Amino acid sequence: MTSPDTEAEHVEATNLLYRDPALYDVIQSDSTGAGMCQTLIELHRPDARTLADFGCGTGRDLEILAKRFECIGVDLQFGMVDHAHQARPWLDIRTGDMRTVRLGKRMDVVTCMGNSLAYVHDNNEIGQVFATFAAHARPDALLVLCSPVAPITRTEPTTATVDTPRGSATVTIRHEWDLRTQINTMHRHWVLPWGDEARDEIRRRVLFPRELERYAEGAGFEVLDMLDGTGTGLTGPTAYTVARYRWR
Ligand SMILES: C[S@@+](CC[C@H](N)C(=O)[O-])C[C@H]1O[C@@H](n2cnc3c(N)ncnc32)[C@H](O)[C@@H]1O
Repeated sequence: MTSPDTEAEHVEATNLLYRDPALYDVIQSDSTGAGMCQTLIELHRPDARTLADFGCGTGRDLEILAKRFECIGVDLQFGMVDHAHQARPWLDIRTGDMRTVRLGKRMDVVTCMGNSLAYVHDNNEIGQVFATFAAHARPDALLVLCSPVAPITRTEPTTATVDTPRGSATVTIRHEWDLRTQINTMHRHWVLPWGDEARDEIRRRVLFPRELERYAEGAGFEVLDMLDGTGTGLTGPTAYTVARYRWR
């Protein structure tokens, strides 16, 4: 396993938005993740009071969830956590690696949103992440994941315009799928409003539904539901997995 510091540096180097967390917040501001998470908690664990979010990034979901739950967030990257402390000083957000971190607390809800799980590629390390989820779960706690469950196999690039506080950026996105490793790589080419360019290479591990089930069950969770939020069944590429901690 690479050390948390090396891993954090590696992850930061892959993505312009990790090097500019304020821009990350602007670009992700229309995300519906926290709302969906809250709906799933109300449905399956309406009495929940405490929540731990692993791979919480800048804490943008926690800002919403903390209105309803007592929350702790953990993220690998110091830069994201530092931004969270400045932008949302009232939140409890800590630097840590979800493969190994232990907060010494068990919560009613454990979450891992926004594809954070997909940044862990190795099978054993994915098992360690699920052990972390279990180590922070009270009996009957709910686990809510949002992760890639199917690859994006389209290879043609798409180009979009993105509004930033300093003007319009152009981003061209191309995907690559390696079946052997189950890594979906997103190549992003940014042309920023002030003329600079940046290239991202974001490697995400796809865990198909049956694999997710296996990891969850291996750590003591029973999967209750998998849904992609479209209301049309499970089509992917991204899905919410809801599971309950069954060990006592
Ligand atoms: C796409 S961001 C999602 C952040 C947040 N959940 C959201 O939805 O905005 C993925 C996050 O996972 C974090 N991450 C990746 N590997 C991690 C690890 N081993 N432990 C903790 N966080 C990790 C990254 O630092 C990054 O902030």
